[in-house]
Amino acid sequence: MKQLKKLSELEISGKRVFVRADLNVSLQNKQILNDFRLQAIVPTINYIIKNGGKVILASHLGRPNLEKTKDLGTTSLSTQILIPWFEKQGYALDFAADLAQAEQKSHHDLSKVLLIENLRFFKEEKEPTDAFAQQLAKLADFYINDAFGVMHRTDTSVTLLAHHFDRNHRGIGFLVEKEIETLTHLKNKPEQPFVLVLGGSKLNDKIPMIERFLQAPEPIRAHTILIGGLVAQAFLHAQGYIVGEATFDEQTITTAKKIIALAAQAQVSIMLPSDLRVISSEGSTTTHVYAVDQIPAQDIVVDIGPKTEAMFTPIIAQAKTIFANGTMGMYEHPAYAKGTRAVLDVIAEAKGYSVIGGGDITSAAERCGIAQDIDFCSTGGGATLAFLGAKNPFEELPGLRALLQ
Ligand code: 3PG
Repeated sequence: MKQLKKLSELEISGKRVFVRADLNVSLQNKQILNDFRLQAIVPTINYIIKNGGKVILASHLGRPNLEKTKDLGTTSLSTQILIPWFEKQGYALDFAADLAQAEQKSHHDLSKVLLIENLRFFKEEKEPTDAFAQQLAKLADFYINDAFGVMHRTDTSVTLLAHHFDRNHRGIGFLVEKEIETLTHLKNKPEQPFVLVLGGSKLNDKIPMIERFLQAPEPIRAHTILIGGLVAQAFLHAQGYIVGEATFDEQTITTAKKIIALAAQAQVSIMLPSDLRVISSEGSTTTHVYAVDQIPAQDIVVDIGPKTEAMFTPIIAQAKTIFANGTMGMYEHPAYAKGTRAVLDVIAEAKGYSVIGGGDITSAAERCGIAQDIDFCSTGGGATLAFLGAKNPFEELPGLRALLQ
């Protein structure tokens, strides 16, 4: 962190500042479902404007398929989605649909924020070329990476672009500064008992982070790991339970077994659900609760059960540090959100220091109205897990490494 320049250390008055942001919000019918990531970039934008710089704002949105016009329509940063949001916050905005327009407009009215079209509309963003990085670099005098959510990606605007600015002309914004500070503290100095609450559907993404917190020296090792969501079903399968209709590949089961063995070795307790809420047909709003060894094979597990909630509650309440990633069930559907809500309520009320990371759990926290009671909501999903799982995030995360090289 020492060698990373902060925005506040740069002389930006009268200069054009390229801000690589992560404005990758979840959308439904062209509506923003949760503007948490947009709110998080506001301090950086305001600081640049207040200090006389011009903001050149750039981001990706979704993973558009460049062959499909429909994909381009729904992920354009233009008219219906982001521009109205920024205008509602009181910003004067300019929009550039391509880089020629962007270069021309980058010299206009300093007080106007210039928003560039979805960077992933340019194929070179995902297939990095130095020529594309050079074109982007021409748009600004300074480069600020404030897109923590993509620090684990190699996209041109996250990596190669940084090399076109010398050390006094590139750095991190306030959002990334806060993420690094908080996650470094969580990683290196968690007060014990340190409890991990894991859920969601992707076990593989979480492996390095889980392994790190199982193998770390005792003061920073996880004390207990509570597991829900589809991830818990994989662990239950690995222990021989048939939990509804979900199936897992060999590799996932092997990974789950490996983690169980590592936890036993490290004397870390892994707690899996003892009961689950299930439905008997897709879309049904009637849930039934079963103990994990009694779930009908054709049923669909949608949430953890009430006994599991009661089992997790005191562990979270007594923790001094809590990190949660992933939800306990299919929280998007109100009938399946009870477990996620119960766990989030306890995290919000817990006296321990709490951090949550990942799009689903932060949306769920917003939806439950408790996000403001969590000590820190990380804007990253995969990036947060990569940062926590890395031995040296400044070398391992491409976005951070690029700023330091
Ligand atoms: C995220 O949503 O985690 C980030 O915006 C990264 O998006 P990506 O996984 O499409 O690179």
